[in-house]
Formats: sequence, C-alpha cells, structure tokens
Amino acid sequence: MTVHYDVLIIGAGAAGMMCAIQAGKRGRRVGILDHASKLGGKILISGGGRCNFTNMGAGPSNYVSENAHFCRSALSRYPAENFIRLVSDHRIPFHEKKLGQLFCDGSAQAIVKLLKDECDQLGVEIKLKCIISKITRSDVEKQFTVDTSMGIFTCESLVIATGGLSLPKLGATDFGYSIARQFGLKITDLAPALDGFKFAPEETQSFASLAGVSIDCLISVRGISFRENILFTHSGLSGPAALQASLHWRPGDKVVIDLLPDRSALDWLLEKKREGNRTLIKNLLGELLPSRFAEQFSLLHFPSQGLLSQISDKAIENFCQKLHAWTVIPVGTVGYNKAEVTRGGVDTDELSSKTMESRKVPGLFFIGEVVDVTGWLGGYNFQWAWASGWAAGQVV
Ligand code: FDA
Repeated sequence: MTVHYDVLIIGAGAAGMMCAIQAGKRGRRVGILDHASKLGGKILISGGGRCNFTNMGAGPSNYVSENAHFCRSALSRYPAENFIRLVSDHRIPFHEKKLGQLFCDGSAQAIVKLLKDECDQLGVEIKLKCIISKITRSDVEKQFTVDTSMGIFTCESLVIATGGLSLPKLGATDFGYSIARQFGLKITDLAPALDGFKFAPEETQSFASLAGVSIDCLISVRGISFRENILFTHSGLSGPAALQASLHWRPGDKVVIDLLPDRSALDWLLEKKREGNRTLIKNLLGELLPSRFAEQFSLLHFPSQGLLSQISDKAIENFCQKLHAWTVIPVGTVGYNKAEVTRGGVDTDELSSKTMESRKVPGLFFIGEVVDVTGWLGGYNFQWAWASGWAAGQVV
C-alpha cells in the first residue's frame, strides 16, 4: 500500500521537526521518516545534555558558508527571539550561560518534548527506525516516491533534513549529500568542524602531560580571533577556543594563541627583573598561568631552568613573544567522531535562500546542517536549523 503525504521530511532532528510544525500549521498532511530509534538524538546530547538551543546575538556574521549572505533571509524572518518565545510558551526554564548562549535549566529532553508535542498536536506522523532505500521523482505527476522498510510513501514536497556527518554512532549519514548528488545538486567541500585539533608528534610529546589543563586565551586562525578557553588533551587542543578556531581552519593553516591576552608579559617580567627578582622563570609564570603549563612551557624555552635575573633581556623578549603568539600547525582535527558539525554541504547556489527549495528540482528542499551554512559554537547551529526549517515550512 502506498501512503501519500503533502509533505514528507527525511530526518526527525531540529530542522525537520521545526519544518513539520510550520507545514502542519498550514494544514498540510506531514510525515517524518528517520532511521534512528530515538527522536532528536543530537538535541538530547547537545550542550552537555542541557541544549544550547539558540544564541541571542545570532546573525549572518556568525556563520561560515561559501555564500555569506545566504542565511540572512531565514535568520531575519525567524530570529532567536521567536524560538525563545516558543520555549517560554512551553514553560521551559532557561538561562544565559555566557555570550548570549541560552541553555535549558534542566534536561535537553524538554526541547525534544516541545517539538514532539507541537508535532502531535498538528497530527504530524513521525516514523522512527525507517530505512529509506530509494527516492525517485515523477515529472508527470510532480511527486516523489520514497521506498522504505515501512512501505512506499509519495509526496508533493520532499524535505531533506538529515544533518551532517558528525557522530555516526548517533545515526549521522551522508544521506542528504547523496540525495543532492542524485538530483544533480553540487556539494561544497565537507570537513569536520567545531572539533579539537591534533598536534604534530613533537608537540604531542611536549604537551601530552598537560591533558586537562585549561587556559583563557585569544586564539586566531586566518585573521579571525576568539577569546575563550583552550583545553589540552592527550593529543592536541580542545575547549571552546579550539572548537571555534576549527571552523575557520584549513589543513596547513597556523593557529596562533595569545596565552596572556590581558597583559604584556614582557613588561611584567622586565619589571620583575629590574626589582631584582631571583625566582625561577617557571614559578613566576605560574603566577599568571596554570602551574603545569608554566613549568612545561618555560622548560621548553629555558631547558636549564634559569633564574629570571640570569636571563638576558633579549631571551626574555623572545620567550614573551612565544607567550603572546604561540604558533601551532595542527596535523588535523579529531574528526567526525568528535566534531559537533560538518562544515560545508549542499551548495547554496542550488537553493532559494527564502524557501530552501532546490532551483533545479521543484518540490525538493534542503534544511538544517546538510546545507552549506555552519554556525559558530554557542547555539548558532540550532538557530540555523530552526530558521531554515521555519522558512521551508512556510511553503512546502
Ligand atoms: P540533526 O543531526 O539534528 O538531525 C538529522 C536527523 O536525520 C537525525 O535524526 C538522523 O537520525 C536522521 N538521519 C540521518 N541519516 C538518515 C538516513 N539515512 N535515513 C533516515 N534518517 C536519517 N548546536 C547548537 O546550536 N547548540 C548546541 O548545544 C550543540 N551541541 C552539540 C553537541 C554535540 C555533541 C554535537 C554532535 C552537535 C551539537 N550541536 C549543537 C550541533 C547541532 O546538534 C546540529 O547542528 C543540529 O542538530 C543540526 O540539526 P539538523 O536537524 O540539521 O540535523
């Protein structure tokens, strides 16, 4: 038996459910298919289990895309305030953690429940554990046919909301990109992003013992800077600063880290020297930076562990230059098993920025992370999922 929907959405994540709600409000018969056994898997684990569901300052400048303007229309028509209102209407308590990032006070489950409740009220049919084997389109009937493990479905509007490649263990697949290719749409280069960096072997050797050390710093890649914490891991750098930087990083790029962004290390150390300070440099540096890091970093530059008073001004100057511009060339990022998102996706040239509909294939829509719009860390990616899902939901 074939079941017909006005709108069929593949992917019951953030973007897919938002689109379903909007289409349902317009009286469309909507179905969502997802191969996962659990609804909104990524929402549940996001924000450390509390879901950083939006950012109050979200705007086009917080996104990376080959077309920086593409996200503008959807973000302005469905801004962060609209999702905040929805969260408030559902009486979900939330708070700002920092930098406009809004998190649930309780569990991320509340956001999944919000979306599910809205879908239920509107009669949206959600089918989990549904494996999709084939999608075809008939030009004559102007409809899509979707063959699945649960039977055959047809629809007028087909929305692909299958997200990116990160966290395959949670059900991420390249399905969205394959469908785009099948219908002749271009895909931009894909890469794991909002991801940690991997050190080259010599740096791993020097810094592996610092795993767990966190430092407030100014990190820069390709001239774009973020003031956040880096966190040393056994094999590289993680923490919000590294994750933000990874969004802009390309293989071979330098990552430059100012470890003391609020003061001049040179002025401070020369002043101490003038005062006749006879402390080991590692102990002095430990007054400004975590002691494990201070010890290792000064050992690397002053293997003999000299007293400040015995170190030449020139050597101090070189050392301070390293503290303000520690330069690392990562061998890569950790990869899709850890990355929060995929940078790149369906080329925005292929889509209408107002509706997310394919320019080549009428009735075919792409929303959320599968599109080449990738947000910074801090609630921006969910805001794109809500906004792009909302935009498509007005017309599907
Ligand atoms: P999403 O990935 O949410 O949904 C895609 C759906 O498609 C899934 O349900 C999947 O099962 C389904 N699917 C995939 N392939 C399929 C196939 N072949 N057949 C059928 N179904 C298929 N962002 C943010 O703004 N704030 C945050 O706090 C976080 N935190 C965070 C933590 C971690 C650990 C990760 C990995 C990611 C985040 N993110 C985030 C990013 C955010 O989760 C992500 O950008 C959005 O979930 C994207 O929403 P989508 O609806 O596009 O895809």
